[in-house]
Amino acid sequence: MNHDAKTDSELVDWARLQAHLAPIGQQHLLAFWDRLDDAEQKQLARQILAIDPEVYRKIQNQHAAAAGSGVSDKSHWAELAARAESPPAMRLDGSGVPFSREAARERGAELLQSGQVGMILVAGGLGTRLGLDQPKGMFSIGPLSGRSLFQVLFEQLLAVSRRYGKPIPLYIMTSPATDEVTRGYLAEHRYFGLPEQDVRIFCQSTMWAIDDRWERILLETPGSLFLGPDGHGGMLAALAKSGCLANARERGLTQFFYGQIDNPLTQVCDELLLGSHALAESEMTTQVVRKRDPLERVGNVVAVDGRVQVIEYSDLPEEAARLTSDDGSLKLWAGNLAIHVMGVDFLARCAAEPDALPFHTAHKKVPYIGPEGRPVQPEKPNAIRFERFIFDLLPLAERALVVEADAAEAFAPVKNSDAEKTDNPRTSRAALVALHTRWLTAAGASVAPGTPVEINPLFAGNVAELRRKIAPGTKIDQPTYFAPNGPRVV
Ligand code: UD1
Repeated sequence: MNHDAKTDSELVDWARLQAHLAPIGQQHLLAFWDRLDDAEQKQLARQILAIDPEVYRKIQNQHAAAAGSGVSDKSHWAELAARAESPPAMRLDGSGVPFSREAARERGAELLQSGQVGMILVAGGLGTRLGLDQPKGMFSIGPLSGRSLFQVLFEQLLAVSRRYGKPIPLYIMTSPATDEVTRGYLAEHRYFGLPEQDVRIFCQSTMWAIDDRWERILLETPGSLFLGPDGHGGMLAALAKSGCLANARERGLTQFFYGQIDNPLTQVCDELLLGSHALAESEMTTQVVRKRDPLERVGNVVAVDGRVQVIEYSDLPEEAARLTSDDGSLKLWAGNLAIHVMGVDFLARCAAEPDALPFHTAHKKVPYIGPEGRPVQPEKPNAIRFERFIFDLLPLAERALVVEADAAEAFAPVKNSDAEKTDNPRTSRAALVALHTRWLTAAGASVAPGTPVEINPLFAGNVAELRRKIAPGTKIDQPTYFAPNGPRVV
């Protein structure tokens, strides 16, 4: 929702609010108006005026069309999955594209050397599932250093920027739940070394929810709508509205590297990914890993009718997920890392189209204010919530490419608590230690089995840099953190 500046008298004009709601049949939102104090009236008025009637009608029309055709969400995805094929991809062995991995790396390095690359980091989520009632980016993940997810990713970006001698502007998306704390945290830590003028923080918008009869938008209190984040796809509108997109253009950027806060193994501004994108003249390129098992909980990157798109694991029917090709490998093999390269012009073109991204719906439990003004705590899902996903830009790209990465080097997300088996802090830290152990070994050191190591990218960001820093034959038999200024036993 857009929170446009309105004067107070304009805001609390009841007749105006009534006129805004009547055409979409949502006047019930004003039922408790007379009970509200001035501040509550202003808040509610702002939220009501931010309901876009066009968006409301579009959502209702889509729902009516789907209900009328008898095609459920489930059968829609099943039908797409039946037509889905393996996407055009550069595989790990370099096959699938008419250029070499070396040529792609060189091209990526040129883009970085010429200062054409910026980064978008989506960080609107809280760390609730990890037991952290704060932005997820503040979660401590460094196995020995205790560095937060923010610090790990910021330092990687700083290391790449130093390697190429050019700034890489960073645009971080927060949500209303994380914005203030994130700003305070990052300022307090001086942006972990990134120049302040290269970091811009912008906040995503919110979206209302409707009861599951699709009739009434829900109030959370008599003076406030229930508002949830509008999904990471909200990035598109928020990037433009905040002026960040214009800023990127003024700074001469042509490509954005896009990543999520939850993956400390993200190969930030990876030369191979950037360069493959450029050499393939792709508008949007996405990094994938070969799925470890057919039902792995990652989005499936596929091609349907020649367009690349993502089918979430929760939408992919099990039979489709289990299909294999002639050689016995999974047909739908490409798991979504949520790491993309997007042309700045491409994003600007999409941002100019208000409905570029569709809404996905989710049937959820949403506490609300009943018609008598009393709070209702539902016992089962009672409401429809709406989110946009950034990967839905893929089918809009004239040319899109998929680049396969090795999961052991690029993907160790922190999604769950350690009580679950996968994608938790324990597995993520173990993946970091394993990667850095391999780097040290490749650089000629020997690491005693079971000895944890962690390398800060400002010490060395890859094997070649590590070789220049440590003597061949170095023995490591105690937990060692390779801090920016040198190794130390911890
Ligand atoms: C997401 C992808 C999935 C992919 C996986 C890889 C979706 C729907 N699914 O799953 O295909 O395999 O990542 O790790 O995206 N965020 C916001 N604002 C929002 C919602 C999310 O900033 O309104 C950010 C979160 O902070 C997080 C990221 O987006 O960094 C991922 O969102 P999440 O909803 O957790 O997606 P996943 O289920 O992890």
